[in-house]
Amino acid sequence: MPKPFYITTPIYYVNDRPHIGHIYTTVLADVAARFHRQLGEPVYFLTGTDEHGQKVEKAAAARGITPKALADEVVTNYFEVFQRMGFTHDRFIRTTDADHRAAVQARFKELLDKGDIYKAEYEGLYSVSDEAYVTETQAKELQAQGLAHQLITLKEECYFFRLSAYQDRLLAWYSDHPEFVQPDFRFNEVKRFVEGGLQDLSISRTTIKWGIPVPGDDAHVVYVWFDALLNYLSGSPEGGWPPDLQLVGKDILRFHAVYWPAFLMAMDLPLPKTILAHGWWLMGESKMSKSLGNIVRPEQLLRFGVDAARFYLMRDMQVGHDRSFSYEGFMERLNADLANGLGNLAARSISMIRKYREGAIPVPASPLPEPTPGEGHLIERFLAAGRANRFDEALEALWTVLRGMDGLIVQVQPWKIAKDEAQDAQARAQLDQLLEQLWQTLRVAAALVAPVMPELSQQLWEGLGLPGRAADQRLDQLQWRIPAPGPVGDPGPLFARIDKEAEMQEMESAAAKTEAPAAPALDVPALREVVDYDTFARTDLRVGKVLEAERVPKSDKLIKMKVDLGFELRTIVGGIGKAYAPEALVGRQVVVVANLAPRKLMGIESHGMLLAASDNAGLPYLIAPPEDARPGFIVK
Ligand code: MSP
Repeated sequence: MPKPFYITTPIYYVNDRPHIGHIYTTVLADVAARFHRQLGEPVYFLTGTDEHGQKVEKAAAARGITPKALADEVVTNYFEVFQRMGFTHDRFIRTTDADHRAAVQARFKELLDKGDIYKAEYEGLYSVSDEAYVTETQAKELQAQGLAHQLITLKEECYFFRLSAYQDRLLAWYSDHPEFVQPDFRFNEVKRFVEGGLQDLSISRTTIKWGIPVPGDDAHVVYVWFDALLNYLSGSPEGGWPPDLQLVGKDILRFHAVYWPAFLMAMDLPLPKTILAHGWWLMGESKMSKSLGNIVRPEQLLRFGVDAARFYLMRDMQVGHDRSFSYEGFMERLNADLANGLGNLAARSISMIRKYREGAIPVPASPLPEPTPGEGHLIERFLAAGRANRFDEALEALWTVLRGMDGLIVQVQPWKIAKDEAQDAQARAQLDQLLEQLWQTLRVAAALVAPVMPELSQQLWEGLGLPGRAADQRLDQLQWRIPAPGPVGDPGPLFARIDKEAEMQEMESAAAKTEAPAAPALDVPALREVVDYDTFARTDLRVGKVLEAERVPKSDKLIKMKVDLGFELRTIVGGIGKAYAPEALVGRQVVVVANLAPRKLMGIESHGMLLAASDNAGLPYLIAPPEDARPGFIVK
């Protein structure tokens, strides 16, 4: 069995449902996978979800459920959308899969034994959102971006990967493998980063529970990026190593182009051939993100069909660059390229063949040459762009040719020559030539776009009277001209024109309807009596951190916690069990009434109380100090 063309996508965090940014990476991978299958290569396509780490732990805590429960719930959205998008991955890997967990532990141990991983004490500035220690310069950058609240000082004993030892080998690898990172301008950023010097990388955490335990040292979990990157290895097919194409967004290129190859070098494994970094889908100027509330979900594109969604994402984004999304732009693209462009050309051509030649494809005495999209010939240009993972360029070349065909029809004016052809042999030959050229072009177009639009291409293929499947046509053996196997069929319209104005109106009214229902009016209790400042100031409020939490037996409301106040540990029993699961509390910062007289609750003495807001039903909402506050801080 020859080595398959092995292609991967990043694995997606399960803290939220997929949006079109995630879908874009996977469409790109799926199109590349289908394209290589049509080149006759065996292909292995891996995608999946990244389920450990602080992001997922936090999102689960916010919902009051366990991280695994959150992962199990969110992953079903991925399964469903990936199926609707027509993705043809060979495996959907989850980092909670048993084989992956075992592989990560085995590799960790291997590097520990070799000395590439070592244990040491470390104190430094740590970015909570990147889940990584940052350098002084990076910290300054974050502060300049107003993200200082994401930085905390962290001191812990942890395991380090000897990244600094790989600087020279990485640089040598980069200069020997100019195709290692695409596009070039991103490769230059990577090189500059490595030239600037590499620090050893902390690859274990004690602050997080949700992860793969370090083998033989359960207090530590493996750093989520070491865990996540290794999915490509644990999910690799038999005989498939190394990956040929790894797709990533520009935001995670450093992990893939610096850490990942260094890990592989340490393991004495061959490196991937190409890491392709794409840009972002933006809304206006900003990246789509949940916190900005500007997310476009794949369902919103899928309303117009799977091919429409896939085509738009491939066609409108220049690989490597950012692109702004707009619904209007989306519909305009579909109307211009699918309803008018390809759809209209196919309908006109097939109906002319039926009308003027009773459905039979003519055999012209002097056929027209293969059309050119400007430079080179269509098939060759399309394949070269596809092999370079530039499907946007490939589609552009094809649509240039399709527009050329529209132009040819206008120029030849078949409706006029059809009238003369009974008397005029030259007119007849010219019409034969045109109709055959249109048929060959559409046939080649159907085979070429099959990786992008699996359904529409098949409908066109059959409409042209061709047997079998468009997706089974070998692109490397695609001939510009073949004898027609039989008469054309009747494909029906390939893509119905979208009434953009009506759709926009409908979307606006749907958006108005789905806007969050107004919260029920709050039953505001009357204010209590006025107290002077001194009375208030007698209450000592402190920041605390929950270290342990468990339910009090036989109570659905009470939770017993061990809370770190910075200067001492307290046992506190709180009536928050209906709103929070114990595991969601561990690690959370809270505000504690620290000088409250102790009180027994169900036989347990509670030394303090947690501050919480509450709604009409009396459900508690714990007051959370900002991330950079520390246990012991006074609240006043
Ligand atoms: N879990 C890590 C990846 C680990 S891979 C070993 C992660 N996950 S993610 O869900 O946040 O992002 C996954 C991919 O989606 C990244 O490649 C990211 O670039 C991409 N996108 C997320 N938002 C995006 C846009 N708005 N536009 C395009 N792609 C973006 O990072």
